[in-house]
Order: sequence, then structure tokens, then C-alpha cells
Amino acid sequence: MRSFLGRDILSLKDFEREEFFRVFEAADELAPIARNRRNTDLLSDKTLVTAFYQPSTRTRLAHEAAMHRLGGHVTGFADAKMTRAGDFYQESIKDTVKMLEYYGDVIVMRHFQQGAPHEAARWASVPVINAGDGWGEHPTQVLTDLYTVLTEKGTLDGLTFLCIGDFRMRTMHSMAYALSQFDAKLIAVSPKDMRITDEMKKEVTEVYNLQFEEAEHVGDVINRADVIYMEPVVQPDYTKARQEASGDKGLTPANYKVTKELLRDKAKSDAIILHSLPRQDELPSDVDITRWSRYWEEAFNGVVMRMALLSLILGAME
Ligand code: CP
Repeated sequence: MRSFLGRDILSLKDFEREEFFRVFEAADELAPIARNRRNTDLLSDKTLVTAFYQPSTRTRLAHEAAMHRLGGHVTGFADAKMTRAGDFYQESIKDTVKMLEYYGDVIVMRHFQQGAPHEAARWASVPVINAGDGWGEHPTQVLTDLYTVLTEKGTLDGLTFLCIGDFRMRTMHSMAYALSQFDAKLIAVSPKDMRITDEMKKEVTEVYNLQFEEAEHVGDVINRADVIYMEPVVQPDYTKARQEASGDKGLTPANYKVTKELLRDKAKSDAIILHSLPRQDELPSDVDITRWSRYWEEAFNGVVMRMALLSLILGAME
């Protein structure tokens, strides 16, 4: 298995099965620290740099919280408008990371351009973590999600994942690549204009051997799902730095909604729902108290997973 020391985390395309399990083991070791709301000194001599060119609640703050739990330091920006990359100069990724690499020991980057963290990694002498790039990938979110499935189900093999929502989403892409490493089936339910591209479908099925199928309506397939994985279809454009809410955003058609009535009538009793959040109306808040919801556990695991990744990348764990 390749070492995680000094490694960039850009994509789950290049993650091997045993590497997933190494990260999950590290997360198991570190979880009690977060659960007991303690801080340690495992990374007391390290600094995390956050470079966020798009809004974020969970991903940036979970990385920052993880670093604090590990006794490390945090610097960075949450809005590129306050930097030279976001003003008159539009400073390039290269010039920006050639500065950031001196301010810390690992850079976590979210960007509206697909491939921007990869470009950063080309120039940075410190590891780069992709915190979501345009419609590209969101590897640390999906590591969090699969860790949640493993802790809840005890396995990642033999499961059917029902992925509902916009399949252009970076989480969906990372999920498809990741599931190819397990004996898992992915059923996608997306609107026509948000479906997996033909190119990606060919890649995940023919190159990565993913068991993949598509359906029109969540009601037709929810009875087969062990894991219900959701994204909104009422979405901003992820290739933009920012999109303000304006007027009527529209409602989610029933095909892509999971309600407590649908769960009661059709879902497996032991299925679980994950949602990387934020949500719109595709997952009504009255589902939160049902036995299917696991998205708050997923949110807790978001800190644990970033603790595991930072510890492995920065050498606090092997
Ligand atoms: N899940 C996720 O990426 O959330 P944020 O956009 O709040 O980081």
C-alpha cells in the first residue's frame, strides 16, 4: 500500500481498496477524541492552510475543527474576494500556492474550476487536499460518507447504494469511483439534464467495473436500497464562485424526493439515508427523526475523517 505521508488527496479515482480501509482504521482510532470533545497534541507543530474560493459550511470548518482537535494551527481564507486571487489581479493558482506553501504544511482547497486543486498540487511543495472542485470531485466528503456506512452497516460489500439527485455533483463522481472498489451496486435517479455523462458512465462501468444502473423514479427502486445517498436537484452552478439565491428556486419533483411516507411504505427497514448537505426540499426535515436518517452522524464523522486524513498525510500516524 502506498504511504499517505505527504500525499495529495485530489480524487478517489486513484484510491485502492486497502487504502480506504487504512483511512477508516485511522478514523476509528481518532474518533474517541472527537466524541469526547477533547483536543490532543498530535499535530501541535503543524499548520493547515484553508483556501476556499467557494462557500462552505461543513468542509472548511470540519477540516479546521479536525486540526484543532489534533492540536494544530489553522490559517487561510474563506472568501477569495478578500485576497489578490479575487480582486483586480485575479492572481493565478500557481502564484497563490507558491505563497500558501510557506504559510503552512498542508493546503485544503475548494474551487469553482474543476482541476484547480490538481493545478495547486503541481506547484505546491506541501500536500493539497481537494475540498470540492467545480463539478469534479469531493473526495473527503465521500470518504466521510463511506466511513459512516461502514460504521452503521459493518461492511461496504454486498450493498446497494441508491444515489438520488444531480449526478453532475462532485460527491456523486467521487462516490462512483469509490464504490468500484467494493462489491456494491449504484442505482442513479437523476433528472435528464443532470444525469451521468456518457463518457463517465463508460469509464466507471468499463474501466472501473462499477455495477451501475439508472432509474426514473425513486419510488421504483427505493425498496432495493441499503444506502440512500442524496443530493439536491435544486442546485447552484458549481462552476461559479458564488450564486446568490434569487426569487423562486423551484421545487423538487417527486421523482427525486425522499419523504417519511415513502420510507414507511417502500424502504427497507434497515436502510440508511446520507446527505452531504446543504439540502433543499428533496429531504423534508420531518425525516430527521425517523430511523433511516444518518446525516447527523455523517456530519460528526466529517470531523473524524479529516482528523484521520490530516494525521496520515502529516505523519502523526503511519
Ligand atoms: N458537504 C459539503 O461540501 O458542504 P459544504 O458546502 O458546506 O462544505
